[in-house]
Amino acid sequence: MTVLAIENLNVVFATEGGDLHALRDVSFKVPEQRIVGIVGESGCGKSTLINAILGLLAENGRIASGSISFEGEDLAHLDDKAIQDLRGPRLSTVFQDPMGALNPVISVGRQMRNIQYRSDLARAEKDARSIDMLRQVRIPDAAQALKRYPHEFSGGMKQRIAIAMALMMEPALLIADEPTTALDATLEVTTIELLKDLQAEIGCSVLFISHHLGVIAELCDDVVVMYAGEVVERGSTRQVFGNPSHPYTARLLDCDPARQSERTRQLPTIPGELPDLRRRPEGCIFAARCDRRMDVCAAIPPDIEVVPGHVARCFLAESQ
Ligand SMILES: Nc1ncnc2c1ncn2[C@@H]1O[C@H](COP(=O)(O)OP(=O)(O)O)[C@@H](O)[C@H]1O
Ligand SMILES: [Mg+2]
Repeated sequence: MTVLAIENLNVVFATEGGDLHALRDVSFKVPEQRIVGIVGESGCGKSTLINAILGLLAENGRIASGSISFEGEDLAHLDDKAIQDLRGPRLSTVFQDPMGALNPVISVGRQMRNIQYRSDLARAEKDARSIDMLRQVRIPDAAQALKRYPHEFSGGMKQRIAIAMALMMEPALLIADEPTTALDATLEVTTIELLKDLQAEIGCSVLFISHHLGVIAELCDDVVVMYAGEVVERGSTRQVFGNPSHPYTARLLDCDPARQSERTRQLPTIPGELPDLRRRPEGCIFAARCDRRMDVCAAIPPDIEVVPGHVARCFLAESQ
């Protein structure tokens, strides 16, 4: 079963310099109970993708074409209000700044009860569930924590409380946009392990955005590599990291010699810049920066299936 299926999604922002094509023909799936990672440099369209799914695109942005099917419903054609109604029970989110999810003037306990507003449980039972959830994200003295306010917790704890709140109602899909980027390396490891344990327990799917290859390698079952608004490679993490078939992915991994085990905090730098998305260059989107460019790259490469489920948009990719 597929929880989220994105097909040929195109998102355009109106700008003074003309239309900026932030996502071009983006397609991928998030299957049931899988953790899918999106990786790519800053500006490649990760947040635009999340915002398109959640009905949170800026005023000047629009979905020009394509579909976003969540549990069989096309979010691309729902109005923003209807998408907001899905959020919470079925579709939940965690962002880089946990304070986006936490209200500073309401106690943690009351916020966690509020999330359970659709449940028929009595207040004490709701609190018991909250305590259980806080224990699962390893908040010490969970019963006492319900009475406290967000500012009384450290940054790492706030993010864990936000995760507890996001997973409380056992959503089908958790969307996490750089949830560990603001944490130090040790806390990042703990938070990732915790997220993985909770995901397994709840059995939800996760769409996890990060520019951090080490985290993606550790956490994700599948990976989608984006470059300048396009999916250049996707497949299982093992397929993509083990046999990178797009030169962009290969360069990202080259710069990270210990690969999976090495925790690079930054995406490695590749010479050159992202193309101007208002004027897409002809042919392969990565050609200007590619050290394996050929004459044929003046045309847009096809999506080549290297092995079933592993696809790369490059003339060099070979079906095996
Ligand atoms: N509201 C907007 N108006 C115009 N351009 C935008 C807007 N939001 C994002 N963009 C552009 O869309 C592209 C993708 O941005 P974004 O999705 O934020 O990338 P990422 O999250 O991967 O860093 C960038 O070129 C960015 O400048
Ligand atoms: Mg972003």
